[in-house]
Amino acid sequence: MNNNSDHPPVIDYEGSDYQTSFWDEGGREYEDQSERIALKRLLPDQGNLLLEIGAGAGRNTPRYSGFQRVVLLDYSLTQLQQAQEHLGRSDRFIYVAGDVYRLPFVKDLFDGATMIRTLHHMKDPLASLRQVQRVLEPNSPFLLEYANKQNLKAILRYLLGQQEWNPFALEAVEFTDLNFDFHPKSIRKWLADAGFKLERQLTVSHFRINFLKKVVPTKVLVFLDSVLQPTGSWWQFSPSVFTRSLKNNSYPVKEAEGFFQCPSCGSALPDHESQPDQLVCQSCAAVYPIQDGIYDFR
Ligand SMILES: C[S@@+](CC[C@H](N)C(=O)[O-])C[C@H]1O[C@@H](n2cnc3c(N)ncnc32)[C@H](O)[C@@H]1O
Repeated sequence: MNNNSDHPPVIDYEGSDYQTSFWDEGGREYEDQSERIALKRLLPDQGNLLLEIGAGAGRNTPRYSGFQRVVLLDYSLTQLQQAQEHLGRSDRFIYVAGDVYRLPFVKDLFDGATMIRTLHHMKDPLASLRQVQRVLEPNSPFLLEYANKQNLKAILRYLLGQQEWNPFALEAVEFTDLNFDFHPKSIRKWLADAGFKLERQLTVSHFRINFLKKVVPTKVLVFLDSVLQPTGSWWQFSPSVFTRSLKNNSYPVKEAEGFFQCPSCGSALPDHESQPDQLVCQSCAAVYPIQDGIYDFR
């Protein structure tokens, strides 16, 4: 965990086998396929440059095939190394180790962004959403997934007296260290406060119950989930919610100047042609290494 006191703490995925233990061998085919459908429904058909925040080992990256290039941003170097092994090194994928609270990109750079299964690690969700808003071009789509505290299982447990926290209360619940469930109303307020206009909400993984997953074929559960997802426009009682928002169009769109920006002082960084293994900030002299095709801004 990053314990730097001037910004929120960051959870530590360094050396984690998350992709293998949680997804590949974790019995979550139903959730993965339901998320694939939600993403397909919300993603634009095409785009130029997508920012994938908290990309992890790149589970979702192949789903962004409509975009010409994808920047995979994650705080964990080893997650990015796993993503690189899986997706390969090419001009299409740019691997960046960095912190969502201090995104190392110039303003208005991306014409799309996703943040899937990552907001639940944010102690200060609004601060992270403001960063995403800054680096998106006006009118560009932002797909955000969040863990919903107001889900049916939590409501039942609360009503039966098996759970102390109130699923209807607006404050986040931290169920283990740096793992938060949020209330849909709070998410909508933070999106608006950060400068986004909410367009669509899909409820996802309605049947995340071990017993059901054992007795009902995955295909059937995925189909039923896909039928229920659009009800997210009216109510949200599933454990996971996918949203699509647009960055407010409050100023004319113009091409971004540069690509990376120094996360320490905020100055645009020059290209690294003279020193291919690092980027050096001309304003504050901070040095950012580039190792085996991964930019390191931590
Ligand atoms: C649960 S994993 C999700 C990975 C991927 N999005 C998926 O759905 O398979 C969360 C990821 O968010 C990253 N993360 C957490 N806090 C972060 C932060 N402040 N900045 C950048 N990445 C962060 C973690 O390192 C981890 O790889």
